[in-house]
Amino acid sequence: MLPNYPELEKKRIIIGVTGGISLYKTCILLRAIKKAGAEVRVVMTRNATRFVSPQTFQTLSGNPVYTELFPAHFLQEPLHIRLSEWGEIILLAPATANIIGKMASGIADDLLSTLLTAFPGPVLIAPAMNDVMWHNPAVKENIGKISRRGTEIIPPGKGELASGKIGEGRMAEVEKIIFHLRKIFSSQDLKGKKVIVTAGPTREYIDDIRFISNPSSGKMGYHLSEEAALRGAEVLLLSGPVNLPAPEGVKKIEIESVEELKENIEKHFPACDILIMSAAVGDFRVKEKFPGKLKRKDALSLRLVPTPDILKGIGERKKNQIVVGFSAETENLRERSKNKLKEKKADLVIGCLIKEKVSGFNLEKIEGWLIGKDGREEKFPLVEKRVLAKMVIEEVKKIGGWK
Ligand SMILES: Cc1cc2nc3c(=O)[nH]c(=O)nc-3n(C[C@H](O)[C@H](O)[C@H](O)COP(=O)(O)O)c2cc1C
Repeated sequence: MLPNYPELEKKRIIIGVTGGISLYKTCILLRAIKKAGAEVRVVMTRNATRFVSPQTFQTLSGNPVYTELFPAHFLQEPLHIRLSEWGEIILLAPATANIIGKMASGIADDLLSTLLTAFPGPVLIAPAMNDVMWHNPAVKENIGKISRRGTEIIPPGKGELASGKIGEGRMAEVEKIIFHLRKIFSSQDLKGKKVIVTAGPTREYIDDIRFISNPSSGKMGYHLSEEAALRGAEVLLLSGPVNLPAPEGVKKIEIESVEELKENIEKHFPACDILIMSAAVGDFRVKEKFPGKLKRKDALSLRLVPTPDILKGIGERKKNQIVVGFSAETENLRERSKNKLKEKKADLVIGCLIKEKVSGFNLEKIEGWLIGKDGREEKFPLVEKRVLAKMVIEEVKKIGGWK
């Protein structure tokens, strides 16, 4: 997925950096946050400056880096107060065992720990340390304490540590930290809701290696699942074969055939609140798949039969659940989308215009119609799929009557 973090635009973010080896990743994190259009100020502990010079963060942030509680030059207002009034959030990455201990005890003996004590807003931390340190009972207790007081912890990952050992304690990856940061700036209006999103193409095999499919890239469904996750939903993404990594915070199950997709929907649908079917589901499969690999010879006839209509069955069974369908058409889009809504008993249908190189499959943009069960018919202009994803989630919210 192309990185784009509109939630961070113009946000005032303080990045606190402490003395752990993983602070090299913070340089990449800072660049990504700056690229998103956020304003960033960096506060480093003295020990952090032993790993990387403040010059690096100064250049990346485009602002002075603060390290001293008592700067050489007199300031009318102490730095920790000035910064605590300026910042909308403090992101601590990496967070050492030491700073976590200080936060748990309310110790304020340098600029960063004093700022943390004086800061009234949200604090997000990405702990990073050796596995023995991470499992140390004192560290565990301190994490529990600060978490109960409202600090959000991005758990460290498992893998190769700086020592070369495999264990738990390495700082969460940059993408994951950014997801948590974006989530803080997103309204949590889908919190507690379970959402299923289908995405990408399906494949119906002719023989063991050839299949019938379509050019769906999965972008629409991936944007939808990311948007739902950012708004606090528990998201299950049922994805056909595409070249996209699962968005952060989303559980992904890979499927290939319509039958596999149907099985997964039937299994998970009863427990979900919202089902968004944006996958480009194939309409035909071969009646009988050939075993092995077909050899080149004279003309070959294939007998195609329809695949099961997933949306129809679901629309008939839904109970207090919202079902959103997508229809892709090259012509008569409005009428066909209206018919689909009625036939499938969906709550909302997004009609997508397929126009070569302009709108539709494997493109960033799309235009079409929003057709609602309440009789609403609204044309939407050519927009980015991520923008359409926001529009669809807003519509779902309205249908559900959720604030
Ligand atoms: C090479 C090296 C790597 C270190 N890596 C970590 C680390 O990843 N996590 C951690 O909690 N401490 C780590 N430490 C120990 C901290 O630097 C030490 O506890 C220090 O007091 C932290 O100070 P600060 O929290 O004020 O930055 C490391 C120390 C050294 C010498």
